[in-house]
Amino acid sequence: MTETHPFDVLIVGSGAAGLSLALTLAERLRVAVLSKAALSESATYYAQGGISAVMDSADSAESHIADTLSVGSGLCHEQTVDYIVRHGRERIEWLIDQGVPFTTRRSKSGDVEFHLTREGGHSHRRVVHAADATGRAIEQTLIERIREHRNVTVLESHMAIDLISTGKLGAIPDRCAGAYVFDLVTRKVKTIAARCVVLATGGAGKVYLYTSNPDVATGDGIGMAWRAGCTVANMEFVQFHPTCLYHPKAKSLLITEAVRGEGGYLRLPDGERFMSKFDDRLELAPRDIVARAIDHEMKRLGLDCVYLDVTHKSSDFILEHFPNAYEQCLSYGVDITRDPIPVVPAAHYLCGGVVTDIRGQTSLSGLYAVGEVAFTGLHGANRMASNSLLECLVIAESAAHSIIASLDELPPLPSIPQWDESQVTDADEEVVVSHNWDELRRLMWDYVGIVRTTKRLQRARRRVDLLNSEISEFYGNFRVSGDLIELRNLVQVADLIIRSALKRRESRGLHHTLDYPGPDDINHRRDTILRAGDFS
Ligand code: FAD
Ligand code: SIN
Repeated sequence: MTETHPFDVLIVGSGAAGLSLALTLAERLRVAVLSKAALSESATYYAQGGISAVMDSADSAESHIADTLSVGSGLCHEQTVDYIVRHGRERIEWLIDQGVPFTTRRSKSGDVEFHLTREGGHSHRRVVHAADATGRAIEQTLIERIREHRNVTVLESHMAIDLISTGKLGAIPDRCAGAYVFDLVTRKVKTIAARCVVLATGGAGKVYLYTSNPDVATGDGIGMAWRAGCTVANMEFVQFHPTCLYHPKAKSLLITEAVRGEGGYLRLPDGERFMSKFDDRLELAPRDIVARAIDHEMKRLGLDCVYLDVTHKSSDFILEHFPNAYEQCLSYGVDITRDPIPVVPAAHYLCGGVVTDIRGQTSLSGLYAVGEVAFTGLHGANRMASNSLLECLVIAESAAHSIIASLDELPPLPSIPQWDESQVTDADEEVVVSHNWDELRRLMWDYVGIVRTTKRLQRARRRVDLLNSEISEFYGNFRVSGDLIELRNLVQVADLIIRSALKRRESRGLHHTLDYPGPDDINHRRDTILRAGDFS
């Protein structure tokens, strides 16, 4: 089944990156937005703390840049950091123009101004937010705008399987020409041609057993780009968020870092605060340090969790700042105005991804990547809190301008073959897929987690090699399903994370290995670049 008229731009993903890009492009071009679940289902929807931007006259771009570089432990690309930080305020103003209801307060002089919260690594209050459900406010507003736009075709429950690159069809020069897309409702594969494709597929938290991420975060964009020959970088830098609710029935409930930003304490079960043993910034140290500290204390004392305590603040304060956390925790029987919150770290954010420049251009002509799927060099070895949504919005804007300016220079689209199902049958053993999902996520958690060793990484690599060949065989023989498409991408991402981690023989930022406990600036102060063909 082919969409006969190619779209100007096919955007895969409907989070902050995909939707903000679509809105800018749709002023000039015919755009399709794919979302493999409901349009709102994305990491963006669940974002809590906010977006970092220099909004206060006592703050400065120089300070935001310095904090980002410091948290990134020597690997941030300075030009990228400079560009993104300096475009932050303008993007916040754009969101306000779209109608996002950020939280305001009255200043001492009686003016209305944005309330700015604080998170780890930031030396100023600079996080603009909508109470503690910032992502929901952004996503809902952008969806309203998108639904009004007649130049945007929205395709929900449509999962991109693979990119179509003309090189693989024998055409020179190689360029991206669309995607094969699985319609999860009709269970048919469509061929969608487009003059330009943008990956805005978000992260890959589901590669770990415990994650703050929603189910859609299965690294599909990275898998597709890697198979199409794109370069990826710094996949070893997986961020674990220090504080996700520990409760047998809570799947992935993050407790925002803003709770610590507004004065929350981390405590052991006996009430002792422990962060002073690890960093002078205490609970507001960067995330890698806080997550490792919690991991250390849990292992040292054999604990199931530690506690995030905000009970010393007034109920009014808590309800005003954290209404979402209050409601959500209460639904699990935890009243955060009275009870310390049981918390554990969980996989949260992938700093590495598909290599792009600051316009979102990948190494394949006609293919862009924006948002968490991409590697722009902003985050280095560790992302500073609330810099992710900022990156999504700033790079989406620059990508839009680049696409509009360059679309007519791309070579014409060749004719594209239909998806071929002649060699496959219906799967007879779906259990293989669900079993491999579970095995992969557990082994990544056990062997490729917060603290690593070479031995554990090698063990993980051997198992992932086996899973990879089993999944490839299954994929080659049977009709696709949503779970199979995602599993194929997850195992690809796991492989890239492990290979990258084995290459980095030092500890830096989010990559911490007991075999090389310190940084090695002479040999490793550089990105881990993987290119297609490196392992064939
Ligand atoms: P997403 O918002 O994840 O959107 C990805 C989209 O791609 C989804 O629509 C998905 O369905 C679609 N998709 C994926 N694969 C396919 C496919 N194969 N075919 C079709 N569609 C596909 N960052 C901050 O800066 N501030 C915060 O306060 C903050 N809080 C967070 C809280 C939580 C709980 C989480 C999980 C993350 C948080 N982050 C925060 C990180 C930030 O939310 C994400 O990095 C950011 O939202 C990513 O946006 P995105 O547009 O790149 O991807
Ligand atoms: C949070 O609110 O703690 C998440 C912020 C982020 O991931 O940037």
